[in-house]
Amino acid sequence: MTSLDHGKFTKTTTVFHSLLALDVFLLFFSGYAVMFNDELWWLLALMGGNTGVLALHRIAGFALIALTVFWVTFMIIGPGRRSNFREVLPDLRNDTRAFVQDVKFLLGRADERHPHARQFAGYTADEVPLLSYVGKGVVFIFTVELVLLMISGLLIWSKPALMQFFQTKTAAMAFVGFHGLLGVVMLMGVMFHIFEHGFHPAFYPVELKAFIPKSDIPHADHDGEHEGTGIERLRLRPSWNWAVNLGGLAVVGGIVGVLLGSIYDSGYPVPGTLTVGGGPTNVFLTIGINVGILVLFLGLVLSVYGNVLRSRYERQVRERGRAAATDGSGDD
Ligand code: HEM
Ligand code: HEM
Repeated sequence: MTSLDHGKFTKTTTVFHSLLALDVFLLFFSGYAVMFNDELWWLLALMGGNTGVLALHRIAGFALIALTVFWVTFMIIGPGRRSNFREVLPDLRNDTRAFVQDVKFLLGRADERHPHARQFAGYTADEVPLLSYVGKGVVFIFTVELVLLMISGLLIWSKPALMQFFQTKTAAMAFVGFHGLLGVVMLMGVMFHIFEHGFHPAFYPVELKAFIPKSDIPHADHDGEHEGTGIERLRLRPSWNWAVNLGGLAVVGGIVGVLLGSIYDSGYPVPGTLTVGGGPTNVFLTIGINVGILVLFLGLVLSVYGNVLRSRYERQVRERGRAAATDGSGDD
């Protein structure tokens, strides 16, 4: 571990991030097994067929509401949380500058990234903001999407009640379409998120920042073993090159597959009927949608792997502490 892995999440946040990811993956798997029941027949069967998958989706939906209530309460009454909240708010001047400088940097017209864009790459913890403008964007977009998914999910909970309320079947169906469409938008964001944090050259195959709490990570100021941030000690894994290309291809293929699938399968944006699925069983669409689900599955695996690495790291730290205490070197 190097100080490049400077933590930013507290222990509660790492646990919350893992639970949120697990629940959102469940919502994706069950939601899309309903929507693309012909292309994802195997997933539907794995999740207990039509009845099982709908029950699972609703239970995971409730879990998301419970997690959100917990998090909002925690943000209001948790120690030091309200000051953290300020870090999430946009700083229009600097965040816009950081974006413009990033474009220039990509075109080779700027020497370095703006401080508000810094997330990785050789800076020490105190040179990096708690959230870069990209991180703020992720929080904002995921929050809006999840809130809208919860509201529309509750609205379509009982379709007969919804039809009675809106008097027309089309208006009721539009809510189902809206919910499914929002899911697709969220899916794109989550796939990029998995790609960003799974395939970064410095951290591949998984960036541990979201899994190891900052209190457990050595920072430059108390990691006296070496000069600098540790970037010079990193070696690019030989498999990164093909893995990043394959991962990028799968993300793009998966997004295109799910987008096209949602147009064909549910008469996007308003589904033709209230019974889901039943679209054309096109082989390319089937491959694209399955690749999309595979990318999500990779995200789930990486999330589990991140937690396995966390517990391995904690064990090593404990053992090192015990060894230092036994040979008496723990005092210096
Ligand atoms: C559906 C699943 C997930 C959701 C809803 C989610 C949500 C979030 C949110 C809201 C943030 C804070 C914004 C940010 O700092 O970028 C975040 C940060 C992070 N997530 Fe996730 N995440 C998910 C899955 C994953 C997975 C699978 C990984 C690992 C591959 C991961 C790795 C990270 C990392 C490393 C950060 C810290 C980024 C930083 O430096 O700011 N996340 N996640
Ligand atoms: C990441 C979050 C979520 C995603 C990706 C998602 C995705 C989906 C998808 C794709 C469908 C099928 C839509 C269609 O028929 O075209 C669906 C249906 C549904 N979702 Fe969600 N959803 C999410 C969150 C929620 C939440 C939070 C709730 C409840 C509070 C919920 C409740 C429902 C209900 C009741 C249905 C209708 C099932 C039926 O046909 O009986 N969803 N969802």
